[in-house]
Amino acid sequence: MSTLSKKRYTITSALPYANGPLHIGHLAGAYIPGDIFVRFLRLNHKDVVYVCGSDEHGAAITIKAKKEGVTPKEIIDKYNKQIKDSFEDFGISFDIYHRTSEPMHHQLSQGFFLNLYEKGEFIEKFSEQYYDEEFNQFLADRYIVGTCPHCQNEGAYGDQCEKCGTSLSPTDLINPKSTLSGNTPILKETKHWYLPLDKYQPWLEEWLIEGKKGELKSNVFGQCQSWLKSGLQPRSMTRDLDWGVDVPLSEAEGKKLYVWLDAPIGYISATKQWAIDHGKNWEDYWKKAANPEDESTLIHFIGKDNIVFHCIIFPAILHAHGGYILPDNVPANEFLNLEGDKLSTSRNHAVWLHEYLEEFPDKQDELRYVLTSILPETSDSEFTWKDFQARINNELVAILGNFVNRVMVLSHKYFDGKLLRGSMFTAADQNVFEELAKYPGLIEQSIGSYRFREALSHFINAARLGNKYLAEEEPWKVIKNDEERVKTVLFVASQIVANLAVLAQPFLPKTAIKLFEMLNLPQQGWDKAGQVDLLSEGQQLGEVQLLFEKITDEQVEFQLNKLAQAKIDNAKAASVAAPAKTNVTFDDFMKLDIRVGTILEAEKVAKTKKLLKLKIDTGIDQRTVVSGIAEFFAPADIVGKQVSILVNLEPREIKGIMSQGMILMAEDADGRLDFVNPTSAIKSGSTVR
Ligand code: 2FM
Ligand code: ZN
Repeated sequence: MSTLSKKRYTITSALPYANGPLHIGHLAGAYIPGDIFVRFLRLNHKDVVYVCGSDEHGAAITIKAKKEGVTPKEIIDKYNKQIKDSFEDFGISFDIYHRTSEPMHHQLSQGFFLNLYEKGEFIEKFSEQYYDEEFNQFLADRYIVGTCPHCQNEGAYGDQCEKCGTSLSPTDLINPKSTLSGNTPILKETKHWYLPLDKYQPWLEEWLIEGKKGELKSNVFGQCQSWLKSGLQPRSMTRDLDWGVDVPLSEAEGKKLYVWLDAPIGYISATKQWAIDHGKNWEDYWKKAANPEDESTLIHFIGKDNIVFHCIIFPAILHAHGGYILPDNVPANEFLNLEGDKLSTSRNHAVWLHEYLEEFPDKQDELRYVLTSILPETSDSEFTWKDFQARINNELVAILGNFVNRVMVLSHKYFDGKLLRGSMFTAADQNVFEELAKYPGLIEQSIGSYRFREALSHFINAARLGNKYLAEEEPWKVIKNDEERVKTVLFVASQIVANLAVLAQPFLPKTAIKLFEMLNLPQQGWDKAGQVDLLSEGQQLGEVQLLFEKITDEQVEFQLNKLAQAKIDNAKAASVAAPAKTNVTFDDFMKLDIRVGTILEAEKVAKTKKLLKLKIDTGIDQRTVVSGIAEFFAPADIVGKQVSILVNLEPREIKGIMSQGMILMAEDADGRLDFVNPTSAIKSGSTVR
């Protein structure tokens, strides 16, 4: 059965941590795809609930609170509000935006834990865990970082490496360090409750690998396959923390549920709250039914760093609990990069949604359009402001906006906005109707396979069809001698606009509303898409509205400057000088013979990236020095430059060249190098002290 042919749907988008604002990477990962999908389902009159909310537990919150010197509660209240407002303003159409700090969510999560506990599913285990003696705290999840044993990423967390997606335990990390004190932690014994993922492995293989082959996107399937291949391990579902959902056992006082146990249950508690608010039965959206046809179809929209939790851990929990439906699909996206670099909250290298909405009020659809065009569906993709400008100016303005505007303006100019049928339809008219009728099916097929970029390109092609029709029919010329034909051309063109209004709804909701208003037509469902009689003869069109404006070079420049400034601020903040080394005696220092030298020749050392071979006039002699500066200086640019050179360093062979001395370089925290040289010409051989 096709994904879109079910009657009921439970759609989730990842619960963002309430520890910072949203950026375009979040939108492109889990929210724009989810919102397009849901809007499409609603247009098809499906019974659908779309849930989300703030993830308000775990180290992500407490670490941020510590950094800002406030309580975790203050952090979640601040960011929950900011995130919720941004989603609303941007137009992500959740049916509910809930919070995992709500008491009902705590109860539901505890109920899940107790259900598994009472069934004896957990393995209770004392084990040695990392502990920070300075802060008197056990270190799990984001409280500990180290090198990922799989991809060597030096910033892997205690529960996951976000670079390669692998789920980890703190003891897997190489060179672990506490993120609280920076110290190497000690090991200390503690008791925890483990979910035996190894026990569920055969079931997961059958359900996920056998059952979902060909259904899951290849990036998702590949990750799942590789975890299962390396063998699942029991995973602790409790933590020694003072923030989160209490473990509901008297012997576990002071312990909390693992955030990745309670967070996905947040989807269920959100649905429960929505059902209470709207007189629905939440179980219809989450529970198995006697007749599988009556069960809801559960789809999780997430970013790739969340795959393991949604494809393995949460389904294992639901399976162990019993009675719940399992995800039908988890169409995870890869990551979005920004201007050639990874998006980064800590480095402030991001386009923040709340700032975008302030700087471009009323340009929600423009950002939706650009992000949908570049969604990282199969591999990482890239947002640049130049591309943002180009897509808006060359596609939204030049194709969609231009077509609609011409139809509307000409209709008002020639016929006071009245739609008139005119003469008979020509073969060209029939042809355009036939073409137009193909788009709903194409878009449906793409959306049903989670190919939203492709779906959007079908939509813009439908607008292209309209533009081409107008360009070929040239009503502005024909009006001089055949008014009846112009009536027909504008009648046909208006039917295209009406179709664009219907088709735009999943992608560009605000634009779709404007189109319906301009046409004086009530909003239409997807069943009307492709029909060529959406407007009837005599219909009075509404006012012409501006759909899109061009993005100016100044706007792009402003945004690029903002990113550049963030880089500078970040570099400043990061440029904490290394501590001073231990003292040396004056005599020790005087042993160094440093001279001013002049570079006579410079060339790259073959087969190396960093090395230059320099010929230096030291005033004493001319000698060869190999220096690791090739990434910063081109040979031609440094010939004639004066440098400081340590002339009495033991000669040593580097890449087969005998290097006699060392050029002194200044190096900043980012590893950028520059010469330490006199500011005016001074004789080679002059001493430096
Ligand atoms: O990665 C994150 O931002 C998590 N807060 C996502 C949670 S999704 C769900 F399971 F709650
Ligand atoms: Zn890794």
